[in-house]
Amino acid sequence: MRKILNVALPKGRLGEKVYDLFEKAGYGCPTIKEPGRRLVFENLEKGIRFFWVKPSDVGVYVERGAADVGVVGKDVLTEYGSDVYELLDLGIGKCSMAVAAKADFQDDRSKPLVVATKFERIAKRYYAEQDREIDIIRLNGSIELAPLLGLSDVIVDIVETGATLRENGLVVVERFADISARLIANKSSFKFKTNGVENLVDGLRKQIGTNKSDD
Ligand code: PRP
Repeated sequence: MRKILNVALPKGRLGEKVYDLFEKAGYGCPTIKEPGRRLVFENLEKGIRFFWVKPSDVGVYVERGAADVGVVGKDVLTEYGSDVYELLDLGIGKCSMAVAAKADFQDDRSKPLVVATKFERIAKRYYAEQDREIDIIRLNGSIELAPLLGLSDVIVDIVETGATLRENGLVVVERFADISARLIANKSSFKFKTNGVENLVDGLRKQIGTNKSDD
């Protein structure tokens, strides 16, 4: 019997691009494009089942084996430290992890730096490497507001086009990591569904090769 590959896709803009890549690689599931609130879609003929998952939860589904593979941004993967295999850089959803601040910000090293971020672990690691003491404020979104309202000195966040920073009078202090979407696999699925996973990786890799200008 053919083994079905269960795939956790990140819901949203990135997920749609990722699905298109899967479709081009031969893993189409046309019902996924129908309007509605369904979260599970399968194409048994192709041996594939997709789930729409909140992007920050993809690693959890894959680590625990509810999904065999998934696609997640390197930012989320690093932040949550999921115990999974990282198989492939899909080359989409490219952005950077950066420190940003108001244009006139001056760091006063006699005081802890107040850092607002969604990426607490990444920010702590970055400043530990700089040997800079910080006071971290964990926010869930609209991080750019924090320095504007005096809640923080800087932010650690992803920057894609830079428009959000620009339109809110912030500037990049330092870009310190490249981010893009990664294909990840559950460790035992990788062992027990080896063919399925390898075929998927090969199919996606071919598409990435021909898709470079699509980012
Ligand atoms: C992300 C990020 C920035 C923005 C960067 O926010 O947190 O705010 O995108 O993109 P840009 O450089 O192209 O402007 P997201 O849209 O995920 O919303 P959030 O505020 O809820 O984090």
